[in-house]
Amino acid sequence: MKVYLDNNATTKIYPEVAEKIKEIMINSYGNPSSLHQLGLEAQDIVEESSERIAKNFNVNPFEIYYTSGATESINWALKGSAYSGKKTGKHIVTSSIEHSAVISCMKSLERQGYEIDYINAGKNGIIDLNEFEKKLRKDTVLVSVMSANNETGMKQPVEKISEMVREISEYAVFHVDAVQSAGKEMLDLKSFDMASFSAHKFHGPKGSGILYKKEGIRTIPLIEGGSQQRGLRGGTYNVHGIAGTAEALDMAVKNICKYEEIKKMRNYIMEELEKYGLLIITEKENSVPNTVCAVLRKRRADTVVNALSDEGIYISRSSACSSRSESGSRVLKAMGYTEDEAMGMMRISLSDMTTADEVEYFLIKLKNILSFLKF
Ligand SMILES: Cc1ncc(COP(=O)(O)O)c(C=O)c1O
Repeated sequence: MKVYLDNNATTKIYPEVAEKIKEIMINSYGNPSSLHQLGLEAQDIVEESSERIAKNFNVNPFEIYYTSGATESINWALKGSAYSGKKTGKHIVTSSIEHSAVISCMKSLERQGYEIDYINAGKNGIIDLNEFEKKLRKDTVLVSVMSANNETGMKQPVEKISEMVREISEYAVFHVDAVQSAGKEMLDLKSFDMASFSAHKFHGPKGSGILYKKEGIRTIPLIEGGSQQRGLRGGTYNVHGIAGTAEALDMAVKNICKYEEIKKMRNYIMEELEKYGLLIITEKENSVPNTVCAVLRKRRADTVVNALSDEGIYISRSSACSSRSESGSRVLKAMGYTEDEAMGMMRISLSDMTTADEVEYFLIKLKNILSFLKF
C-alpha cells in the first residue's frame, strides 16, 4: 500500500487534468501569438482558462497572469512592486514565517537598500497583528503575508491585514502568498492587490503558476521578451500548463466540500498523535483543514520520516524545500520553539484524495515505529 500524506509539498495530478494536458499538447500545439487558425485556437484556450480561473477567485480575467510557478509569481510580485514603488519609499513589511520564496526575495531587496520589517508569529503560528500595525508606515511600499503557512497549516489574518494596510499605508501594495489555500477553501482575491499560486498544489501540473494582479497595481516585468501577457511577462504561453491549471482549479474548487470529511480525519490524526506523546502545533481552528504539524519530543523527525517511507508512507519534516537541511524548521524557531523541537517537527498533509483506510494504515505503522524506536 502506498499512502501519500505530503500534499503541502505537492499533490497528485487529477487524471482528468493529465488527460486534458495530453490532448492539448497533441492537438492544440499552436502558438497563441500566431495569426493562423492553430494560433487562434491556442489563444482561445488561454482566454478561456483565464475566465475560469478569474471566476473561481472572483476577479477579472485580465487580472490573471501566468508564470512558471509560485516562486516566479512571488519574485515578480515582490520585486516588481518594490522596484516600481522606490520613488515613494523603500519600506516593506512581511512576516518571519513566510515561505523561503518570499524570505529570499526580501533578503535580496534588503541587499539593494530596502528596509524590511519581519513580524514574528506566536507559538500558535499566527502573526501578531498589534506588532504588524505598529510597523506599518505611511511610506511602506509593500506588504507580503501568506494566507496559510505550509508547515503548520495555520491561517493568517490576511483580510484584517488588508484593512490595516489600506488605512495606514497609502502607497503599499498588499501581496498574499495564497499557495496553501487554493483548492482547500473558497478564495475571494478582491481585497488583495496581488496573490501567488502554484498549480501543483491543487492537483494541477508542476511548473505552472498564477499571479493575480489587480487592475491598476503598479509593477514592472521581471521576465522581459515579447509582448505576451499585456507586455508584462515575455515568453510563449505554456498553453497546456495553463489549461491544466484552469481545469485543476475548477475541479479542486468543486471538491472543497470534501474537506469537511478531510478535516475530521485530520483532527482524528491530531488526537491520536497526542496520545502517542507528540506535541501538536496545528490548532483545529484557524488552520487549513488538511495539515497536521506535530513535534516528536527529544527525537529527530527524519528517523521517523525515513522509517515511514520504507513502509510506503510519505510524510515530511518541515517544508519540502528545506527538509534535507541539517537544522530544524525555521518556521517553528520563528514561532519560539527550540532547535530540538524544530528538529523533531513532522508534517502530515492530506488532500481530497486521502481515504480513511490510508489514515488508519498510517497511524498503525507510525505507532509501531514509535514503539520500536522507544519514544
Ligand atoms: C506557501 C508557499 N509559497 C510558495 C511556494 C513555492 O511554490 P513553488 O515551489 O511551486 O514555486 C510553496 C511551495 O512549497 C509554498 O508552500
